[in-house]
Amino acid sequence: MKERKIRERAVRALRAEAAPRRQMARAKTMVFRQDWDNYRRIVRNNYLFHREAYATLRKVLEEEVQGPFRFLDIACGDASATVPALAGTAVTHYRGIDLSEPGLALAAKRLRKLNCPYELEAGDFTGALRRRDLAADVAWIGLSLHHLRRPAKRLLMRRARRVVGETGRLLVYENASPGPESRAAWLRRWDADRPRWRAFGDDEWESMSRHVHARDYPEPHETWLALGSDAGFRRARCLYASPNELFRLYCFEA
Ligand SMILES: C[S@@+](CC[C@H](N)C(=O)[O-])C[C@H]1O[C@@H](n2cnc3c(N)ncnc32)[C@H](O)[C@@H]1O
Repeated sequence: MKERKIRERAVRALRAEAAPRRQMARAKTMVFRQDWDNYRRIVRNNYLFHREAYATLRKVLEEEVQGPFRFLDIACGDASATVPALAGTAVTHYRGIDLSEPGLALAAKRLRKLNCPYELEAGDFTGALRRRDLAADVAWIGLSLHHLRRPAKRLLMRRARRVVGETGRLLVYENASPGPESRAAWLRRWDADRPRWRAFGDDEWESMSRHVHARDYPEPHETWLALGSDAGFRRARCLYASPNELFRLYCFEA
């Protein structure tokens, strides 16, 4: 009897200890779901011009990449735009890296539709790209590099250059200015884009814009080209500029 009471007390204590962790995990899941739902709404409404950017990626894969290729999706998220861009191409292997485990779980479901083996890694992309065993013919970064300051962008691109070897390419779709422009001026142009975002209420827009103002670091066109050259790429081209000139897609060839 006494023993049972001690055991029950111990179980209660363990449960009490685990409760804050469970609450924290539940809160994280809710934040993820809300953030991801918002992101899905952005993609669905094409506010960041995913349709055109991923169509450009597909065009390069179909028309410029010679033969079968291995694809590295840096910050793949849920891979919802990448999978249709890759479907039916000569992709032979897909690797996705992202910090978000729930994002990767969604990606795994989508990737089953792709007719090739895939691997998903949870972790920071700059650290992951340091690994010597990583190799790909095409590396892709969609809207995930702009949180990094310039030296960190350069480092990531250098690592991507090594990963794609002597014949590969890196494509990035990121926040950019068409000419010399300060971050403050880019952010003013971002704010001026508000009328297009009709599916977002004022509070939602405010909260998202706060995030952009705090964390986004766009680069002018010339700087993107210089980053490519600093990273060791021989050739850099801008293949797409969004109509609002807030985003550009670059292709860097080794
Ligand atoms: C705006 S989403 C972009 C998703 C997708 N690439 C696209 O084009 O829509 C940004 C993604 O980058 C991931 N991310 C941000 N910083 C990261 C880092 N340092 N390492 C790995 N993933 C990161 C986030 O978890 C998120 O999934």
